[in-house]
Amino acid sequence: MKNILITGGAGFIGSNLTIKLVDKGYNVTVFDNLSRQVHGEDQESALYSSIKGICTFILGDVCNKKDLKKAVESQDAVIHLAAETGTGQSMYEINRYTHVNILGTANLLEILAEDSNVKKLIVASSRAIYGEGKYLCSKEGFVYPEARKEKDLSNSIFDVFSSLTKKKLEFVATDELSKIAPNSIYGITKHQQEQMSMLMGKVLSIPTVSLRYQNVYGPGQSLSNPYTGILSIFSTRLLNGNNIEIYEDGYQSRDFVYIDDVVQATILSLENKAANNQVFNVGFGKPISVLDVAKILHQLYASRGEIIMTNKYRIGDIRHNYADLKKITSLINYRPTIDFLTGVEEFVSWVKSQDLKIDHYNQTQIELFNKGLIR
Ligand SMILES: NC(=O)c1ccc[n+]([C@@H]2O[C@H](COP(=O)([O-])OP(=O)(O)OC[C@H]3O[C@@H](n4cnc5c(N)ncnc54)[C@H](O)[C@@H]3O)[C@@H](O)[C@H]2O)c1
Repeated sequence: MKNILITGGAGFIGSNLTIKLVDKGYNVTVFDNLSRQVHGEDQESALYSSIKGICTFILGDVCNKKDLKKAVESQDAVIHLAAETGTGQSMYEINRYTHVNILGTANLLEILAEDSNVKKLIVASSRAIYGEGKYLCSKEGFVYPEARKEKDLSNSIFDVFSSLTKKKLEFVATDELSKIAPNSIYGITKHQQEQMSMLMGKVLSIPTVSLRYQNVYGPGQSLSNPYTGILSIFSTRLLNGNNIEIYEDGYQSRDFVYIDDVVQATILSLENKAANNQVFNVGFGKPISVLDVAKILHQLYASRGEIIMTNKYRIGDIRHNYADLKKITSLINYRPTIDFLTGVEEFVSWVKSQDLKIDHYNQTQIELFNKGLIR
């Protein structure tokens, strides 16, 4: 396998992956529409500049099957990353999210079904497909709680409780066999992408891998997209001297995985036959609270902005999720290498080297509030 097509390859994960694959001697083609939300109005983002000239770049939309078909011709493998990625935004731009994420994947799979040389397909899924993920109840053992109730959230009860004992549940690492219960339209579309790809991979005998990425961060992350990426949103706020507003009580947690580790997992999945027809979690495997993220960034930027607890909550948000990595470690020997403190320092020093971005955060809050998605 020499020729690799990456849809969405000018984005955060895709551009880092492109650089690494080119270094390893692959011929990479990137197919990307340089979405303005990610790349800015002039589409000349740092992300795009980082891959310009080292790969074949095709400006195109995955929703346009004709253009995509040309890009797939003579490729040995496809890594399908192109997607709309904002969880909150997906709750009101439902048409756009389902169109790009599901129709785009449908186009790709039709092309593979019609006629192609493709011998491997990798699709970017997400931890968002699990919703709340896996918890431990003292009476029932492992449980997969439903989305938290509006009544509790509006009374500032943010934790997840057992329906049997009424006690707070202990959150544990979510493995790949955990219940699929997405809480957002974005999560639903990622699950659809995964299911469609895994099914058609089998039908077409194209080895397929689905990677359920946790929260990916690191240098190159879009600093101008106010809809996604908590580290970049907080950074742009702090560097503009603005306050960081934290939803809930700040103790909600996520599994932050450094971009180099995500690239490592993706390349292992591409090169290793043991990955074929598997779904894998990709994370660091440890939870970090949102409040800790805010405090660490606040200190590293020495910002005059303050950390404000709003006690507000966002519809579609989950309380906790972190990855169980046993499967990906045992099958393809993925081992995350960059712990959060090391990664965040790298990220912050990269952010400091970039031009200061305009802070559009308030605009997203107004949008979410007007749609009834922040309460
Ligand atoms: N970054 C994360 O934390 C994370 C977590 C879980 C899953 N994922 C998934 O990984 C993939 C890559 O994420 P990312 O963080 O690099 O996102 P990103 O937004 O940085 O990159 C996505 C790229 O896709 C392109 N794109 C968007 N719509 C397109 C279309 N219609 N046609 C062609 N190109 C289009 C954009 O221009 C962008 O370059 C996505 O599928 C995302 O859902 C990311």
